[in-house]
Amino acid sequence: MLKPGEARAPGHTYQEAIAKDASQPPEAFLDYSYEFLGDQDIPYTHYTSHDFAQSEMEHLWPRVWQMACREEHIPEPGDYQVYDIGHLSAIVTRTESMQIKAYVNACMHRGTALKPPGDNGYCQNFRCPFHGWVYSLDGELLELPEDWDFPHVGAGTHSLREILVDTWAGFVFVNFDREAESLTEFLGVLPEHFRDFDIADRTIETHVCKRLPVNWKAAEEAFMEAYHVKETHAGGRDFSEPVTTYDVYPKNVNRFIHTVGSVNPRMAVPPSEQELMRALWGRRGPAEGDCPIVPEGATARDVYAEVIKKSLGAQYDMDFSHYSTAQTLDSIEYFLFPNFFIFPGLSLPMVYRFRPDPKDPDYSFFDLYFLRPTDSAKPQSPPPEPLMLDVQDSYTLAEGLGFLGAVYDQDTDNMAAQTRGFKTCAKGGQTLGNYQEVRIRHLHQRIKEYLEN
Ligand code: FES
Ligand SMILES: [Fe+2]
Repeated sequence: MLKPGEARAPGHTYQEAIAKDASQPPEAFLDYSYEFLGDQDIPYTHYTSHDFAQSEMEHLWPRVWQMACREEHIPEPGDYQVYDIGHLSAIVTRTESMQIKAYVNACMHRGTALKPPGDNGYCQNFRCPFHGWVYSLDGELLELPEDWDFPHVGAGTHSLREILVDTWAGFVFVNFDREAESLTEFLGVLPEHFRDFDIADRTIETHVCKRLPVNWKAAEEAFMEAYHVKETHAGGRDFSEPVTTYDVYPKNVNRFIHTVGSVNPRMAVPPSEQELMRALWGRRGPAEGDCPIVPEGATARDVYAEVIKKSLGAQYDMDFSHYSTAQTLDSIEYFLFPNFFIFPGLSLPMVYRFRPDPKDPDYSFFDLYFLRPTDSAKPQSPPPEPLMLDVQDSYTLAEGLGFLGAVYDQDTDNMAAQTRGFKTCAKGGQTLGNYQEVRIRHLHQRIKEYLEN
């Protein structure tokens, strides 16, 4: 008799599925770290209640590390980027000595925000638009018009309030809690798992920011499990049977990895490798040329991965031959609590960041980035301005998303339906699968820890 959490889908584990690949996967992919975290329902009020959102705003968001931007957003002294989370706002900038610093985005005179929400650009110093107090890139109060009236004010007392800032893999993280643990501690296993990946050298190719019709947690949850794929995305499904591993790491990291183009023995009539190849070719391209023949004894996954590596290699003028089949093809999604997702794969190279809408718990903001690998020795173009999409706008407006635009729309439709259902559902809370939805439970357990401490 299996205990709760011990059951698994019949067929292969992810690790068994990729063991058949011709290339050795990164070591981290072979790790297994599932833990049964309970099976209680998650109350719908955690999504719909203004009081709950307020509690998150007081006890969670001011105390956690959050990705504010990429280093490429602020390459030179004076470049800055504003990061807003609820009612909090930070300016992240590069100083003359090339240090990255972050300040509370509020003047030390009468509190005026120095820069508008989401703003970015270049400045020699930070000048308040109200009375003209000026701060250096190091945050020091430099100029105080009519200082005869302010004998009680000086650089020692009224320089900008600095907050914690640190970088990892080319991302700039901030934390409004100056007593917080270091970013390195917060990241847990992430740096070790990403040791062999080239994320720091990637650059933003596409950035879409959309307002979503759902609470920020349910928005994240839509991307935390592959259980919905068969039903929600059935139209675009290649007829392989994806195999997914779900892992939870202390304290802030979890992940899934989900095969693309593998044959699972649990299928009643498994496709041949050639049928699989045709399905991959048809759905994901490159659409030019004839679908390759899978040689006897080879797998569609390996053949297709070679095609992708060559085609992206030609597109970016880079050599991807060292990428394994798993890293080239699979959907590899790591989550860093509370709102950051990163995919280190080659053909699915996304980054997600979710933020609550402080005006309404039924809405949230979703920054979706596609990163492309780059040769760091070559000059790079600056990151694109985000394409802003409102609730009703389709992701298919964003050309850079390719076939995934329609997929994100399908996920967004579910979100709107959940927001409606949360309020009428008599049951009172979400019921979760023990294995496939464990990452959702992990998210809620971490939130609870912040709200109660
Ligand atoms: S509020 Fe900033 S200078 Fe007065
Ligand atoms: Fe989805």
